[in-house]
Amino acid sequence: MAKTTSFETERVFTKTWSNPNGHSLAAFKEAGGYKALKKALEMDPAAITDEVIKSKLRGRGGAGFPAGRKWSFVPKTDKPKYICVNADESEPGTFKDRYIMERSAHMLIEGLAIACRAIGAHTAYIYIRGEFGLAERRMQQALDEAYADGILGKKLMGTDYPLDIYVHRGAGAYICGEETALLESIEGKKGQPRLKPPFPAVEGLFACPTIINNVETIAAVGPIIDKGADWWVNLSRTEAEGGTKLVGVSGHVAKPGVYELPNGLTLKQVIYDVAGGMRNPDKPLKAVIPGGSSCPILLPDELDVSFDFDAMKTVGSLMGTGCPTVIEEGTCIVRLLKRVERFYAHESCGQCTPCREGGDWLFKIISRIEEGKGTMEDIDKIESIASKIEGHTICPFGEALAWPARSYLKKFRHEFEEHVTLGRCPHGPIPVAPLALSGVVA
Ligand SMILES: Cc1cc2nc3c(=O)[nH]c(=O)nc-3n(C[C@H](O)[C@H](O)[C@H](O)COP(=O)(O)O)c2cc1C
Ligand code: SF4
Repeated sequence: MAKTTSFETERVFTKTWSNPNGHSLAAFKEAGGYKALKKALEMDPAAITDEVIKSKLRGRGGAGFPAGRKWSFVPKTDKPKYICVNADESEPGTFKDRYIMERSAHMLIEGLAIACRAIGAHTAYIYIRGEFGLAERRMQQALDEAYADGILGKKLMGTDYPLDIYVHRGAGAYICGEETALLESIEGKKGQPRLKPPFPAVEGLFACPTIINNVETIAAVGPIIDKGADWWVNLSRTEAEGGTKLVGVSGHVAKPGVYELPNGLTLKQVIYDVAGGMRNPDKPLKAVIPGGSSCPILLPDELDVSFDFDAMKTVGSLMGTGCPTVIEEGTCIVRLLKRVERFYAHESCGQCTPCREGGDWLFKIISRIEEGKGTMEDIDKIESIASKIEGHTICPFGEALAWPARSYLKKFRHEFEEHVTLGRCPHGPIPVAPLALSGVVA
């Protein structure tokens, strides 16, 4: 059932979500679907990219790189060009792309076809996280429908432009969400990140120019072309980015779920006005991880900030995937960090020594502290190790290991010290905040 918020916005991503059959081709077309692709096929490819640049659409996979600008880096060459949609969505606390694929699969296909036309790609891949069974089935079903309807294939919407889209299922490795590891994986190799440069837009899949974009980024392209960049810009309440955003709120809030919101609400508004505030009035807010577990943690007095890529940097954190995890008083921060680092230590691809060894060291030291067996020297080692991982690795996974450790320690050092002086966890055997208690709002 649809939940309402005081921050209602025009629904873009969630338009058909209240219809149980909204993922079908018929429902998508009834809601105006594939009109944008038709329009795009009548446009000059460069004009499509220009419109996306004008819309201020920023990549929604974590880094916020402007989508249209990335497309403009594709060189004019006779080599084949590819687009890979990053549907790996494995960052703990993040759950939004899955819902687009399960409920709006055709929206992703339409955006992808338009993006392919813009850069001149005739083949595209949707790289789906291996665990996403329903999303994969829905995507394949939608692709089958699109082929049967003459939308995809040798004649894209009846034109002379051939386009094939394939679903490629991952095998459960978080690192395959990193764009170059994703490319290695599609090529049938071990999913390990490549050194950059060359950047994929110049030399990516099969050594050809390749654009990698997040699911939500690509899904936004159809509506932008259909209604225009100005409309998209006006949906937002911040200069930083256009449009609406799918925000997945999890943790100790009263109403966890995926919400479609205008860009530019403050993090405080997202937590209190949209997600209903804290679930337990006796347990006030203790901390927030704003955009997936790799982002630096924030304190309650740091939330009056626009939840956008630029503003979040001013408080020393990141918008990341736009999915905040809310943590209540009574949660053991040391235990939370132990769980976060256990995940990252396990998921390291092992190529770089600081990441491969440092991740395990961090996990072991934090575990020791959490069990009451740590020393004050151990606390200093966390900072020392994390600072030697950050900036010293092939891919930004090193930062994902280091940022939680450094920020939790900076803001909650007293809790680490308490574990050492008491020789036990002061919070007792309480389970830590679940990282993804999700419901869907549509
Ligand atoms: C370790 C790691 C994991 C990542 N996982 C994902 C992911 O699951 N989904 C995603 O879209 N981007 C992920 N990214 C970011 C991608 O490398 C890439 O920047 C993104 O897909 C680009 O899309 P965008 O420009 O539309 O945001 C990850 C990056 C790193 C370093
Ligand atoms: S930082 Fe970690 S995950 Fe990334 S390439 Fe190096 S070892 Fe692999």
